[in-house]
Amino acid sequence: MPKFNVLVTRRLPIAFDQLNQIASVEIWPERQPPPYKVLLEKIKAIDGLLCLLTDQIDRQLLETGTSLKVISQMAVGYDNVDIQTANARHLPVGHTPDVLTNATADFAWTLLMAAARRVVEADRFVRGGQWQTWEPDLLLGPDITGATLGIVGLGRIGQAVARRAKGFEMRILYANKHQCDPEVEQSLNAEFVTFDRLLQESDFVTIHTPLTEDTYHLFSEQQFEQMKRSAILINTARGPIVDLDALYQALKSHQIAAAAIDVTDPEPIPTQSLLLTLDNLIITPHIASASRQAREKMARMAIANLIAGLQGKRLPHCVNPEVYLISSEREDCSMS
Ligand code: GLV
Repeated sequence: MPKFNVLVTRRLPIAFDQLNQIASVEIWPERQPPPYKVLLEKIKAIDGLLCLLTDQIDRQLLETGTSLKVISQMAVGYDNVDIQTANARHLPVGHTPDVLTNATADFAWTLLMAAARRVVEADRFVRGGQWQTWEPDLLLGPDITGATLGIVGLGRIGQAVARRAKGFEMRILYANKHQCDPEVEQSLNAEFVTFDRLLQESDFVTIHTPLTEDTYHLFSEQQFEQMKRSAILINTARGPIVDLDALYQALKSHQIAAAAIDVTDPEPIPTQSLLLTLDNLIITPHIASASRQAREKMARMAIANLIAGLQGKRLPHCVNPEVYLISSEREDCSMS
């Protein structure tokens, strides 16, 4: 008899052999996430939850799941999980860093190059039957080689983006909560600058910071006003970091030249959104980590976190290791 009950909120691209040996596994079968009400009901009877960034793991849910031992999120970001409540419940939360870093950095570059060289517009132009002849000024865009790249958030993914920029001989500026180690700066040839300076001097601005209270609408009207009129914005991080109404105005009025975003707020973006009418915007459906290899590795890592949590072991990739501190402190107290 399997010892544990587990819910996986979507079909994953790998087999669950190891997990099946210790747990009875329910997999939500639909393409859409389980509705919150369904999750709230199911959480009552499970020991472990493997969730995605589309699941809202809030206080009510965590407090309702009284038998929960672990939350394992198949994503590197975890802004959908109420970590404070997880901590209060001494509940470890797992995530999947590193394995998607290269795929996400590759995709940020895909968007940067596609936006700069107007690939999506060009494709529409051809399919729309508008290609008449070679024209000297047809679909012009800026040079990428030698341009200034502003990276907002020089963590794992930001650094991987910077490594790729070296091949394009770019000048790299970065803004971050803290200045990185000199070795990191030197190896990337990246200069730590204020956010304002990054906005003013960059030809391309790419966002790689988590969504927090501090980064919510980090890009709004005032920031677009500071950017070059030729600047291009890339967002593969989280939708709410950019105020989309302000982005619409900035693109519509050519305050900035173009943007390419893989994330929106809300997701999916409503089909009637005015943003979808703009030629100088590329939008993709949150697929930056969607290489086959990255997604498989994410799924394996999420399962490894889940199994460790069920077995009462430390999660290999835990976002709130303070829960272990809390429990050892508790042990210390009970021993004294
Ligand atoms: C994707 O957005 C992730 O956080 O893994």
